[in-house]
Amino acid sequence: MPTSNKKLLAWVNDLVDLCQPDAVVWCDGSKQEWETMCQIMVNTGTAKKLDENKRPNSYYVRSVPEDVARVEDRTFICSEKQEDAGPTNNWCDPAEMRETLNGLFNGCMKGRTMYVIPFNMGPIGSDISQIGVEVSDSPYVVASMHIMARVGNAVLETLGNDDFVPCVHTVGAPLEPGQQDAPWPCNPDNRYIVHYPETREIWSHGSGYGGNALLGKKCFALRIASSMGREEGWLAEHMLIMKLTNPEGETQYVAGAFPSACGKTNLAMITPSLPGWKVETIGDDICWMKFGEDGQLYAINPEAGFFGVAPGTSMASNANAMLSMTKNSIFTNVAETDDGDVWWEGMTETPPAHLIDWKGNDWTPDSDTPAAHPNARFTAPAEQCPVIADEWQDPEGVPISAILFGGRRASVVPLVTEALDWNHGTFMGTIIASEMTAAAFGTIGKLRRDPMAMLPFCGYNMADYWGHWLKMGHKQGAKLPKVFYVNWFRKNDAGKFMWPGFGENSRVLKWIFERCNGKAEALATPIGMMPTLEAIDMDGLDINETDKANLFRVDIEGWLQELPSIKDYYESFGSHLPEELWQQIAELKKRLESEQQAVA
Ligand code: OXD
Ligand code: MN
Repeated sequence: MPTSNKKLLAWVNDLVDLCQPDAVVWCDGSKQEWETMCQIMVNTGTAKKLDENKRPNSYYVRSVPEDVARVEDRTFICSEKQEDAGPTNNWCDPAEMRETLNGLFNGCMKGRTMYVIPFNMGPIGSDISQIGVEVSDSPYVVASMHIMARVGNAVLETLGNDDFVPCVHTVGAPLEPGQQDAPWPCNPDNRYIVHYPETREIWSHGSGYGGNALLGKKCFALRIASSMGREEGWLAEHMLIMKLTNPEGETQYVAGAFPSACGKTNLAMITPSLPGWKVETIGDDICWMKFGEDGQLYAINPEAGFFGVAPGTSMASNANAMLSMTKNSIFTNVAETDDGDVWWEGMTETPPAHLIDWKGNDWTPDSDTPAAHPNARFTAPAEQCPVIADEWQDPEGVPISAILFGGRRASVVPLVTEALDWNHGTFMGTIIASEMTAAAFGTIGKLRRDPMAMLPFCGYNMADYWGHWLKMGHKQGAKLPKVFYVNWFRKNDAGKFMWPGFGENSRVLKWIFERCNGKAEALATPIGMMPTLEAIDMDGLDINETDKANLFRVDIEGWLQELPSIKDYYESFGSHLPEELWQQIAELKKRLESEQQAVA
């Protein structure tokens, strides 16, 4: 045994009794181990090695159509009391759930190997980092965890005899003696992604895919960590972290929450169109923030890799992501090219003449189904990103000057608004809404409220989480970041996006940067502080005057119409809704109405 941690040894013993694997392997995190896992996947038909000359040390994996995304309807927060999970989470009584899972986990690893994966979320040794141990019967999970977290012996050494977050995963497909394994074993009829926030445990059954199976990511770093943060006075957020440097060499760190598939990874790695400006990446998905002694919020990226949506990613849309995955990467549910590489919709303007699609069928540009699944993913080491910031693994974290909230809104929400203060910023976070995407099952295109982009990821009552945000703002001596609401997706009457997005978003980042260092102008409006038309550098942009004005237009009527739906939404949280947020609505309404009267 590579550890003498009593709790860990006893826990693994109990799990061996319960799951009855054929063998137990303690993962050491070595290169050799990665190679073994990949070889096992190749032998069982789970993975194919890509052409070594095209994409060294990289693999192609195909799942099955029943297991391609996070399953929110099968994700549970099992707090003792239902109201502590709140109306936005699926809840089940923990005792009842434990009974169900005990039945399902009994013998679930027969014919398989149980891998014990010690993992560190965040730089090893950082005060902001946390340790978990995942037990899994999936070599795909082991290989993916090698990229997404720090794993193995170094973690066990840091852990010593301390506590850890126990995470149990099985594909839920035991093998009878002599039974041929499936290339992608799973158990779609019995999927359970279960969190016990009070005891800080995660149990996942039946899926091998992404956030359902790589338990360090959404399950630990967001759901369990958000609940830990509430108890301990810190924040676990669904946010990118980036470093901005202006032409004078001054720097600021910015975090940003955007719902799934709103371009968070693209923004984290943008190539700014503005000359002299530099953007570097600290993280693209998750951000943990704690107050430092100076009262500022310091952030780390708890992850070590990117698990990004492949379709739409190209040298034009995100060159830095493309360059991050040129080697040592895993591709899941993309299409396979005839010359041993990968392709997905949007990677090149002209698709290859022939591919094998994500289901394993021949595909040509005439086919009427996509070659890659819309939620196909690349898993790539963050250190391979050409613009990864030098300090991305700094155990101290980086001081955050600004927090961005954004969704995908065709109307009402302008390009950028600065919150009046922390409470108003929290209010902005609570009202984020976005159109549904392929990252989770649901009706694509429908607008859903996704507060702080945490709807599927908050490990406790969402309204209590808002209360925790407000409370963070009351901390004695806190030097809080400024908060901004951005929307790259406003459309004009012809249904066209008015803002070009991508590298041009640096123009908005520049204003945000300069608001933080006190150099940019802003106008007070009913919905917050907004740039004067001159304050955002529009030089060289091909946007007509009407669209330009509309990007920044405060749609008084639209906001007034939106207020009842926000109120209805708030009401669904009953007495958990913090009073300060009702106050925010009342004040916003008053500001909007007095502006309406002034215009009339
Ligand atoms: C993700 C998501 O996979 O947010 O990052 O859905
Ligand atoms: Mn995400």
